[in-house]
Amino acid sequence: MVMNKLTIEQLEEKYPFVIGYFEENKLDTTGHKNKTFKEYLDSFSQEYIEDWAINREKLIDDLEKYIEQMKQFLSLDEEERIKSLTILPGYDKDGKEEKFQEITIQTSEIISIVGPTGSGKSRLLADIEWTAQGDTPTGRGILINGELPDKKWRFSSNNRLVAQLSQNMNFVMDLQVREFLELHAQSRLVEDVEGVTDRIIQAANKLAGEEFDLDTPITSLSGGQSRALMIADTAILSSSPIVLIDEIENAGIDRKKALDLLISEDKIVLMATHDPILALMADKRIVIKNGGIANIVETSQEEKEILVELESMDSIIQGMRNDLRDGRSLQFQFYRGGNQNA
Ligand SMILES: Nc1ncnc2c1ncn2[C@@H]1O[C@H](COP(=O)(O)OP(=O)(O)OP(=O)(O)O)[C@@H](O)[C@H]1O
Ligand SMILES: [Mg+2]
Repeated sequence: MVMNKLTIEQLEEKYPFVIGYFEENKLDTTGHKNKTFKEYLDSFSQEYIEDWAINREKLIDDLEKYIEQMKQFLSLDEEERIKSLTILPGYDKDGKEEKFQEITIQTSEIISIVGPTGSGKSRLLADIEWTAQGDTPTGRGILINGELPDKKWRFSSNNRLVAQLSQNMNFVMDLQVREFLELHAQSRLVEDVEGVTDRIIQAANKLAGEEFDLDTPITSLSGGQSRALMIADTAILSSSPIVLIDEIENAGIDRKKALDLLISEDKIVLMATHDPILALMADKRIVIKNGGIANIVETSQEEKEILVELESMDSIIQGMRNDLRDGRSLQFQFYRGGNQNA
């Protein structure tokens, strides 16, 4: 049990709720923060122990149980796993009813959302985020596992249903990358905070251009860097079963790597995009027109083949982008000779 190795200070840092346990049991740990819980109990005099009828074994045992229970309580229970998300029709911008019965998305499915600028892609993501019940401008409804979602999904911040990577990131916090990640890891009750923050920063740096490190203030990250950080953070730390992505492509980061990082077996991924590669990487795409869902199209076999070609064109463009970024001049023969499709 980790408890026997951690000092009280470390315990409180890792599991902030233990402070409640100490208070409940009238244990004043001030001045003993650098001891383990057992060492602290061992420091009691025999007289004190008898006077207060203190049972040291039981206190240690109970604290262990308390930590286990709190960990379970704070994370998602098995039965509550999200298996599907259903969109019920609402109205387009002219108040016309959407022409589908319902759209159900299962875990491990990737859905893209396409449509002209201003058509309502971000709006659909927001409906899902809010688990709309006819109470948004579209009048849509969202079901989880085929049922009306529990209110707790909307309001609890620990059990968030949805991890959203929105179009605008506002970092108002005056924190370093390290502090931000540690805070997040602690609130998710991660055991190995340092290991996890390292993994996130490495993943983020693989997506972004110029590397940044843990001591960089969040506010001085570039747009692409903060986006990369949020994506890596969501992929590695978030337990949210539904991931909503609003336009990865504008961030100047490696979109395909980002998507690969975000996709995992037990998640539902929805992404609004103007990028044909991302649109075709999805299993299906929802087409939005004038605020309404106009169609749902399955990605065909032919489109999957086209995607392969698109990706090879894209790698040429990426190569050019990198050359230009690094100050080199472009030369025809390099791209024509170097690629079999050209
Ligand atoms: N069905 C609807 N009824 C009423 N208003 C809507 C509806 N759908 C979208 N809107 C509104 O239309 C506006 C534009 O929608 P939104 O921002 O979702 O567009 P978008 O497709 O994400 O555009 P972009 O590609 O530029 O990001 C928003 O104010 C949104 O609330
Ligand atoms: Mg949008």
